[in-house]
Amino acid sequence: MTEIIRIEDDPARATNAALSALRRGEVIAFPTETVYGVGMLAQGAEGVQPLRELKGRGEDKPFQLLAGNAKAVENLGLQLSARAEILVRRFWPGALTLVLSDGEGGTVGLRVPDHPWLLEMLRQLDMPLTATSANPAGCPPAKSAREAYEYFEGRLNLVIDGGEAREKQASTVVDVSGGGIVILREGAIVKTEILAAWENSMKTKTIAIGSDHAAYQTKEELESWLIIQGYSVKDFGTDNENSCDYPDIAHKVTRAVASGEIPRGLLLCGTGLGMSYVANRQPGVRASLCWSVEVARLAREHNDANILVLPGRAQTMDALEDILAAWLETPFSGIDRHQRRIEKIDEK
Ligand code: RB5
Repeated sequence: MTEIIRIEDDPARATNAALSALRRGEVIAFPTETVYGVGMLAQGAEGVQPLRELKGRGEDKPFQLLAGNAKAVENLGLQLSARAEILVRRFWPGALTLVLSDGEGGTVGLRVPDHPWLLEMLRQLDMPLTATSANPAGCPPAKSAREAYEYFEGRLNLVIDGGEAREKQASTVVDVSGGGIVILREGAIVKTEILAAWENSMKTKTIAIGSDHAAYQTKEELESWLIIQGYSVKDFGTDNENSCDYPDIAHKVTRAVASGEIPRGLLLCGTGLGMSYVANRQPGVRASLCWSVEVARLAREHNDANILVLPGRAQTMDALEDILAAWLETPFSGIDRHQRRIEKIDEK
């Protein structure tokens, strides 16, 4: 016998019933701001068996976790890259599932939903809920309590009714476990919104900058240009036109970018060659020596280049500014084949 409780009639009763059922180990159906979900409190891989059986889903497909706030990331010991943090700040609570690294070679999908009743229930639960959309594998997700009830008739003790789903699409799933942004499923939040969020955040981010003596003047001018454009700049030298060794500066900038301390870097020397040799030895750095706007654009779109290298002595200031602007403003495409290739770069 399935009990259906309408949130509208008595929100506290709905919360208490959900909490009790979950703590007894039952699977319940509930509304989210996207489609309806089914979920349970599960411990480990074995623990999700009832949910797997209900859903009729194979072992290979993972479930996601729903949490009451972003602190769950820390509590679960998950790793949040600088990129993931930007998405968390922009989209949580909301229809974005982030696939995060668990630090042990595995991943976990986590979301903080933007549904007032569910959020409050999750906060009281104080543990993440293992969940999935309310539909048997291969069917479209339920958009109302009635649909969820009909899908699982007689197999659930409790369905929480929050009315029609506000958003008829499932959450957007973005894999940020590898440091990049890979859109695994485009759902309620469109892909361009995700990529724009990252690019806009660059405006409030710092650019690490460095040059040798040959491009010192150019560096100073581009630094002023960046500040006028609204970027903040961390200057790693050199500080005058006295002869110096480009690797000394390149190491400082690449370390700052590779460690995640600063998301992007700009390096200059006479030809750009010396700086790019050094920078590309640092795992996680993709330094692109760009001589044209088109190459700068492709370096972002295809290679997600995190360092731009410019030939200070071999281009006009106008040309360098145009190349820099293209590189700053072009988002990574997020397309799977490009992400796959990027992931192979540091393979030995
Ligand atoms: C300095 O003269 C010059 O060799 C350097 O700026 C750079 O072009 C090296 O690759």
